[in-house]
Amino acid sequence: MSDQRNALPLSARGLSKRFGSVQAVSHIDLEVARGDALGLLGPNGAGKSTTLSMLMGLRRPDAGEALLFGHAAGSPQARMLTGATPQSTGFPDQLSPREILTYTAARYGGRPRIDDLVARFGLEKLIDRRVAGFSGGEMRRVALALAFVGEPKLVFLDEPTTGLDTAAQEGFRAVARDYVEGGGTLVLTSHHWEEIEEICGTIALIDQGETVLTGRIEDIRARTSINRLSFALAESAVPPEWMQATHDGQRWHVETADSDGVLRRMVSDSVPFTGLTLEPLKLKDLIDRVRQEEILQ
Ligand SMILES: Nc1ncnc2c1ncn2[C@@H]1O[C@H](COP(=O)(O)OP(=O)(O)OP(=O)(O)O)[C@@H](O)[C@H]1O
Ligand SMILES: [Mg+2]
Repeated sequence: MSDQRNALPLSARGLSKRFGSVQAVSHIDLEVARGDALGLLGPNGAGKSTTLSMLMGLRRPDAGEALLFGHAAGSPQARMLTGATPQSTGFPDQLSPREILTYTAARYGGRPRIDDLVARFGLEKLIDRRVAGFSGGEMRRVALALAFVGEPKLVFLDEPTTGLDTAAQEGFRAVARDYVEGGGTLVLTSHHWEEIEEICGTIALIDQGETVLTGRIEDIRARTSINRLSFALAESAVPPEWMQATHDGQRWHVETADSDGVLRRMVSDSVPFTGLTLEPLKLKDLIDRVRQEEILQ
């Protein structure tokens, strides 16, 4: 085993899991550095939760292994260093969030900073109520607070913001960014690409149990020099054919590696644009582009 003081928060090799006839996860390799956040992306049924459950030590892989700070996933040493919020959670009805948080913190051998968690996860009105009758979003906030209660060095979150209202989603994103900036390591799944883009330095795109694209977002971005030009035109006007612009019902968009050239030609052709913006591609479009280019190569 590698020197545990220097071991990566997460290093997984060849993780595989089958359920009957379904190969849910197939030879997945993952690595995450200290202070980084890894976002797992992919369609429903891709294998994200199954991968996370093996990393959390809740499921045994059929093949492969995962080490957390050099300790086998699921080992007591690994559990002491990690916190998690699975995709679905349930708590005993008669307990309050304060009791649930206190019991869980005791397993880590620490005393919880309840006030801090209450503020970070907006639990002010909930902390001493029994969880029986909590709404889905209220339950989710308790489950998220639970992942952080032991002040873990590594946190796994499966679709953390599903069911949260907009304010709670923003609150969570701030918590996640602070955690990573403070040196914590995060692994999360999400169907919200903008959430992954905001929180994560690294992504792994999973499809049918396999990693189809992985890497640091900035490195993936450096593979393509495409930018997105957007503008409006008067109602009946259309951009010239050469621009290959698409319309979203309100504005026109052009993805191009030569935004300066396109802009010059728009001016010389007297295209009557208004409100023009130039932006790097959003993560979803960037990944579609990079994958498309890889297929074409
Ligand atoms: N306990 C189980 N028994 C049988 N099949 C399972 C089980 N758990 C997962 N699967 C199957 O494994 C595949 C991967 O499921 P998984 O829950 O990992 O997907 P996911 O990427 O998390 O999807 P979602 O975005 O919908 O949460 C799916 O085809 C699913 O039906
Ligand atoms: Mg899932």
